[in-house]
Amino acid sequence: MRKLGVGVLGIGEMGKRHAENIRRLVPEAHLVGVADVAAERARQVASELEIECSYRSLEEMLDNREIECALIATPDKFHASAIQTAAAAGKDILCEKPLATTLPDAHAALEAVAKAGVRLQIGFMRRYDPAYAAAMKRIEAGEIGEPVVFKSIGRDKDAPPLAAYQSKLNGMLFYNNTIHDFDLARWLMRDEITEVHAYTTVAIRPEIQQYGDVVASVVNLNYSRGAIGNVESYVQAVYGYDVRTEIVGSKGSIFVGSLQQTPAAFLTASGSAQTLTDHYLTRFADAYLAEVRDFVHNMLNDSPPRVSGEDGLKALAVAVAAESSHLQAQPCTVTLGSR
Ligand SMILES: NC(=O)c1ccc[n+]([C@@H]2O[C@H](COP(=O)([O-])OP(=O)(O)OC[C@H]3O[C@@H](n4cnc5c(N)ncnc54)[C@H](O)[C@@H]3O)[C@@H](O)[C@H]2O)c1
Repeated sequence: MRKLGVGVLGIGEMGKRHAENIRRLVPEAHLVGVADVAAERARQVASELEIECSYRSLEEMLDNREIECALIATPDKFHASAIQTAAAAGKDILCEKPLATTLPDAHAALEAVAKAGVRLQIGFMRRYDPAYAAAMKRIEAGEIGEPVVFKSIGRDKDAPPLAAYQSKLNGMLFYNNTIHDFDLARWLMRDEITEVHAYTTVAIRPEIQQYGDVVASVVNLNYSRGAIGNVESYVQAVYGYDVRTEIVGSKGSIFVGSLQQTPAAFLTASGSAQTLTDHYLTRFADAYLAEVRDFVHNMLNDSPPRVSGEDGLKALAVAVAAESSHLQAQPCTVTLGSR
């Protein structure tokens, strides 16, 4: 069987999971190497995964001719430039969300991909989650008629440490977290968002305001065909990792999401308890694996990636409009911008 040679850039929490999946659970792929500015970490992960090659930069890794595609899992701020470097080297790319943190950077990345004639997929893995995928099938089959209202909640369990805000390596809440819901909001409704109105708060952590971030937000959405929506994001739910979505249509509604990691209740004299999902790596474990398997399969079979660079751009445009709305305290139109 021909295997696709993959190199992973950025071996932090997310990149390591992708590398583990590719190494152990994607028969059509061959994990050739891993790269990280923290060269020692790259070496350590390569040793754990029993592969030979580790690098301290993307450029070094791309010199390895066995690598046919790059999986980019660096912090958000480096995505657009890494895409350009990998594209110029003629590699196909799977890049974590967001595509970029500004629209001009996103356009520059997409232009580089088009110019090089390579393929790019953006890591909106929720589309591969069995529950979301089943919801989409039913929507496409017309079971809920015309979608009218989109509602989504994305709550992380534990707030990021202050250092994460101080480093400014990742985009603010809308780019790093809500962007998953903005993608679902386009994909599940099969429509484009034209206007957003964001409300935000730093109530429980005012010190992050100086870094341009917020702890929670609600964003109202207007769609091109008349539908409406609302997305809530919160970084510190404490009780668990809570992702839920509802699509309300003219003939019914679909609800996706469960807090329970294990569908069991544990009853004792002191009360009852359930095991809750506490992290995205647990909740979306199947989705991350299905995502990378599908990407690899499509690359080997000369098929287009399932989640395109254009999808990355459109979700980013919604995040940019949400940030503008937050800064201007008024509704903002979604525009794709230019380079
Ligand atoms: N799809 C999802 O559900 C999901 C979940 C978590 C994170 N992410 C995305 O994945 C990316 C990584 O997030 P994370 O939580 O793993 O972060 P992390 O901080 O745990 O890891 C980032 C890694 O990148 C390395 N790095 C930093 N700059 C680099 C550079 N210029 N070149 C090479 N390596 C570099 C760091 O040393 C670190 O090891 C982010 O863009 C984030 O938005 C996506």
